[in-house]
Amino acid sequence: VPERAFDDLVAAMDAALLVVTAAAGGERDGCLVGFHTQASIRPPRYAVWLSTANRTWRIAQRATHLGVHLLGRGQLDLARRFGGLTADEGVDKLAGTDWSSSPEGAPVLRAAVAGFVGRVVARIEPDGGDHVAVLLEPLDAWVSAGVAPLRLGAASHIEAGHPPS
Ligand SMILES: Cc1cc2nc3c(=O)[nH]c(=O)nc-3n(C[C@H](O)[C@H](O)[C@H](O)COP(=O)(O)O)c2cc1C
Repeated sequence: VPERAFDDLVAAMDAALLVVTAAAGGERDGCLVGFHTQASIRPPRYAVWLSTANRTWRIAQRATHLGVHLLGRGQLDLARRFGGLTADEGVDKLAGTDWSSSPEGAPVLRAAVAGFVGRVVARIEPDGGDHVAVLLEPLDAWVSAGVAPLRLGAASHIEAGHPPS
């Protein structure tokens, strides 16, 4: 497939943007995620793809649960924070936000318009790819009324804190 045509196809899909958070061993972080999908109906499963370059992935390798948050259309500031900065440069991205720990230990961003805490069911490392799928069992999902998500097209100018490895 010509790369340009593939890029245009993905841009046309205009994915909603998530912030995925992880905590383990006293460390915590989160990153902006555009690669995600429901992955089973019964039982319900959701997959998020994390770049192996990201500190969030390194923590997610040890986490039992992840926080998955949908950003609203007006939340470009949070997209910039979680997508444009990396904790590898010493920034505590969660410290600047209103967050709390779920009973399972996943960081939950209160500003998110929808989200869930997911139990890690599997980590799927494809041969040769630069992202790893984390398959989640959703627990206690929430959604605000009238949600309009922030989409890729509105955030594609953000330069990722970590280019893919
Ligand atoms: C529009 C956009 C979409 C992104 N999608 C993903 C994604 O699906 N998975 C991922 O791991 N990183 C994705 N990133 C990159 C991370 O959010 C970014 O590199 C972040 O700074 C990593 O921070 P960390 O090293 O603290 O985890 C995306 C970035 C942008 C700007």
